[in-house]
Amino acid sequence: MSEPRSPTELWAAEYQAGGVPSSVRIAPSGAVVWAVGALQRRNFPLRIAVDVGCGRGRNSLFLAAMGLRVTALDFTANAIAALTQEAKKRRLDDKIRAVVHDVVEPWPIGGQDVDLVIDTFCFKHITQREWRQGYKQHLLDVLSVRGHYLISFASVGDGYYGRYTQPTDVASGAAMVVDPVNGIPSVLFSREAIVKFFAPELVLLDELKNNKPVVIHGATYERETYALLFRRSPRHFVS
Ligand SMILES: C[S@@+](CC[C@H](N)C(=O)[O-])C[C@H]1O[C@@H](n2cnc3c(N)ncnc32)[C@H](O)[C@@H]1O
Repeated sequence: MSEPRSPTELWAAEYQAGGVPSSVRIAPSGAVVWAVGALQRRNFPLRIAVDVGCGRGRNSLFLAAMGLRVTALDFTANAIAALTQEAKKRRLDDKIRAVVHDVVEPWPIGGQDVDLVIDTFCFKHITQREWRQGYKQHLLDVLSVRGHYLISFASVGDGYYGRYTQPTDVASGAAMVVDPVNGIPSVLFSREAIVKFFAPELVLLDELKNNKPVVIHGATYERETYALLFRRSPRHFVS
């Protein structure tokens, strides 16, 4: 019998096969474009960003092209290699530092005050509660007092992953699923579970719900995703 594959092996294979949409997309996530627009309209600083679980870096490339300095973190080496190559090609390599890193470990940001942390579809793959607590602490450690955090995730109502959940998990707001095609585990959260998890240090500023048909593994499913944009609460800031 073969050994079970580690998360990084599963992701490396996923990037080679190009299965879930964010593995292959080149255009930035609509959630990131929306969040940057919302912050620019409110005149918030946008100089330094961290892209958590950046994958092949479509969002890092977008932010760098807008002039931000980006640290892009992902534990999958072939995705980071693809981002490094693309950043060079687009002459954005002076703006992007792409690092192979597990984001449940302290983030290698080097004392910078980060204006914006983005996470598009990475947090949902952090399957243990204590790892998620570690992630939250690392986020709070780097985010400046005027900083913002964007998270996008497939919710418990998602038409693709929702087929593999247990009703009791759905009711709890955090339902474990394993994608049967690539073997990658995720947690589907409710919007309320995410808001509660990041409180009180982060306060919801704006949100976007997206229901649309998306092709995954060759078939079309009605996806249900959320983008939640949080601001840091100055009352709970410890410098
Ligand atoms: C669905 S992909 C999204 C990629 C990218 N954010 C995007 O939207 O194009 C999830 C990414 O999270 C990364 N990931 C999952 N768990 C991680 C962890 N603990 N540390 C670092 N990266 C992780 C995977 O390697 C994968 O690249």
